[in-house]
Amino acid sequence: MKDTRLSITEKPVDPLDSDLVVYFATQRTEMPPSCDMAVTALVENAYALKDFSGKADEELLYYPLAGTKTGFTGARRILVLGLGMADTQTPDPVFFETLRKQGGNIAKTCEKTKAGSLVVFLPHIPGIRVDKTAEALAEGILLGDYRFSKYKQTTRKETDYSGIESIRFSCDKETAQAQKGVDNAENAAAAACTARDMANEPGNGWTPESFADYAAFLADTHGLTCTCLGKKEMEELGMGGILGVNQGSATPPCLVILEYDPGNKCDTLLLVGKGLTFDTGGISIKPAAGMEEMKYDMCGGAAVLAAMAAVAREKPDLRVVAMIPATDNMPGGSALKPGDIITHVNQVTSEVVNTDAEGRLILADALAHGIKTFTPDCVVDIATLTGAVIIGLGHHYTGMVSNSDDLAQRLEAAGQDAGEPVWRLPLNEDYTKQIESKVADIKNTGGKAGGTITAAAYLSKFVGDTPWAHLDIAGTAWDFTKKPYIPKGPSGTGVRTFIHLIRSWKKWSPAKG
Ligand code: BES
Ligand code: MN
Ligand code: ZN
Repeated sequence: MKDTRLSITEKPVDPLDSDLVVYFATQRTEMPPSCDMAVTALVENAYALKDFSGKADEELLYYPLAGTKTGFTGARRILVLGLGMADTQTPDPVFFETLRKQGGNIAKTCEKTKAGSLVVFLPHIPGIRVDKTAEALAEGILLGDYRFSKYKQTTRKETDYSGIESIRFSCDKETAQAQKGVDNAENAAAAACTARDMANEPGNGWTPESFADYAAFLADTHGLTCTCLGKKEMEELGMGGILGVNQGSATPPCLVILEYDPGNKCDTLLLVGKGLTFDTGGISIKPAAGMEEMKYDMCGGAAVLAAMAAVAREKPDLRVVAMIPATDNMPGGSALKPGDIITHVNQVTSEVVNTDAEGRLILADALAHGIKTFTPDCVVDIATLTGAVIIGLGHHYTGMVSNSDDLAQRLEAAGQDAGEPVWRLPLNEDYTKQIESKVADIKNTGGKAGGTITAAAYLSKFVGDTPWAHLDIAGTAWDFTKKPYIPKGPSGTGVRTFIHLIRSWKKWSPAKG
């Protein structure tokens, strides 16, 4: 991500010489919207014409006459954004999501008008903390300003717009708090954009080794511990899942392990992300149309590794271990065949009915090995695991399956805070029965019915009694989530959920089963 300069200034700010000045207006019943004095006349005019009433998705773009003393002398453009009713009835997460979306709209206006320097007058809403307001807004702008132009010659030309260079937030009071909010936003947005950068790399640009290299870079920069298990170590450990999926590939697999340990007696959280750098389906090959999107099948791994970048910077009082089983899924001459039986690291045997159900095979080894090695208090895995989750939840919720009500609730809350909602699906023995095999301990598909849940049932065989939650992001990891702060392409979903989960961590107390 490029470096956008963010700063907080105590009011009155002199917006002289900025490309865009942003104000907010809140909607009111049968009255003109409430807004900053500087833009009252403008907003009231627009309200009288029924063009603007301060609704959460409304905006006014205005070009002030040069030299007029209207309080924003020198500003080239004025943008007024609606915030909706924003009263005591509005739940906090809903209001902050509105701010994040309007932040995304600011970035869109900047792109349209090629605006590089911004002054944003923070709205002061009674009962709403200014740090949270600043955080949501800054996060929306930074996430919305993201672009991936590495491989496009035209966008590298000097004449072209290269994004927002500076944002000055103007604040009536509590500037220190606002600064804290902006710092949090910068950290979270940078991490999410890092995950997007990884995911935007095509299959030949982001390989298992790339995960290893980035983890080593984070370890070097921040003093984390990094281990990468290669093929030989996997063979010694008997990781038949990762090795099996990698069998048809010319590129070696890698199990990346990155650990942040504050060194005191704190809880341990294990995060496992599916790092499938390209999914052809293997011998159970996928149809050609749209297969290029399977370069995004590593979004879970990207989310976990990028979240570690934020963890390393924020230094929480929680040990966090990230694991990324990484390989592609190719139909080479030595590839797994339907019907083959593999043995996982914990000796569980599995009949591979469909080589396209590969995500669970690599996650299974990572989960079992990670739990054995780190004895975490709880574990969360994240994966673009099933097309079925798109049928069940569409593109607006991440699917969750968990064996722990407490962990599920923490993730629901974290997802809501991040604007990345998750919806829990059930799991019981009836689903587990669907993956019983006649020839091995389990098989890797459970039929069409409840595909997201039977995939989770497979994973549940590798976590034992450890509190565990599985996030299926196949519907939310790219393109589908149409929000102003999520440009086309990978969304970086999961990264900010993890950051919120970790920031709000409370000692794990539920009895371990
Ligand atoms: N990576 C895919 C899941 C996927 C599909 C993610 C569409 C995003 C969009 C996964 O490896 C897969 O192929 N799953 C199969 C499982 C089936 C064979 C049991 C699926 O969902 O079709
Ligand atoms: Mn697959
Ligand atoms: Zn896959």
